[in-house]
Amino acid sequence: MSNQGSGPAEHVNAAAGSDKERSITGETKGPGALVFGPLSLAEGLLLTRSKTRYIYKHPNDPSLLVKVHIPRVQAGSQKGLKARLESLKDRFLYTSGIERDLRHFIASRYQDYGPVCQRIWPVHGVAQTDMGLGLLVAAARDEQGHLAPTLRTLLDEKRLTPSRVNDLKMLVDWVVESPLTFADLNLENIVLEGAGGGLERFVIIDGLGDRTWIPTQRWFRWVRQAKKKEFRAKVHRYLEESGL
Ligand SMILES: Nc1ncnc2c1ncn2[C@@H]1O[C@H](COP(=O)(O)OP(=O)(O)O)[C@@H](O)[C@H]1O
Ligand SMILES: [Mg+2]
Repeated sequence: MSNQGSGPAEHVNAAAGSDKERSITGETKGPGALVFGPLSLAEGLLLTRSKTRYIYKHPNDPSLLVKVHIPRVQAGSQKGLKARLESLKDRFLYTSGIERDLRHFIASRYQDYGPVCQRIWPVHGVAQTDMGLGLLVAAARDEQGHLAPTLRTLLDEKRLTPSRVNDLKMLVDWVVESPLTFADLNLENIVLEGAGGGLERFVIIDGLGDRTWIPTQRWFRWVRQAKKKEFRAKVHRYLEESGL
């Protein structure tokens, strides 16, 4: 793996100083010791937001980002079946956005699942923040240090060059060839790391694993492969429509 980003070890339980709580080193097992932080996420650190998460700069480490769940419901605010279902969905998105992303990333490093593994951007762990628990991930950046542009932005702004197109086609082939599940691949979950520099490459920053209640893609190879091939066909179609 060539792009791990620097680890957040120095942020481990900054507020918890006792030897007992320093269990991340493997010495002892204190409560909450595998959760980094606490981190204070000021408004100025907010980089972007998606439908489900806020994406913050890490307050101390520019190589990291913190992804925090955007609540869809206010606790105890509504009653009835509809409200109950919304609340279950909210809880599911919260847990899947942290625990599943981390678990699927760990699973992807179990063995060599092919060249696509080099392009799955690292997840570093879980951090306690003043906005709730967050997921710590390596930041993919462009040559100037901004967040790397998404594939959607590059398509919309007609910034795909022949070499970018080649790299993208290679990546989606690797996705299909690998046995891994990518249930939520879309144009926002692929970004061009190093954009504008000499070492550009597309990487996957989200969408690994499945995020459905019933993990049909993980259970059934044919479902998984069909979904990945569908995504590849979509990318090729978009490229053709853009004359690429
Ligand atoms: N590791 C990362 N490096 C660079 N940009 C990222 C990274 N993670 C997320 N982003 C940006 O934030 C957006 C939303 O993040 P994402 O994890 O895809 O949220 P969601 O789960 O809601 O889809 C992405 O489309 C991308 O633009
Ligand atoms: Mg996404």
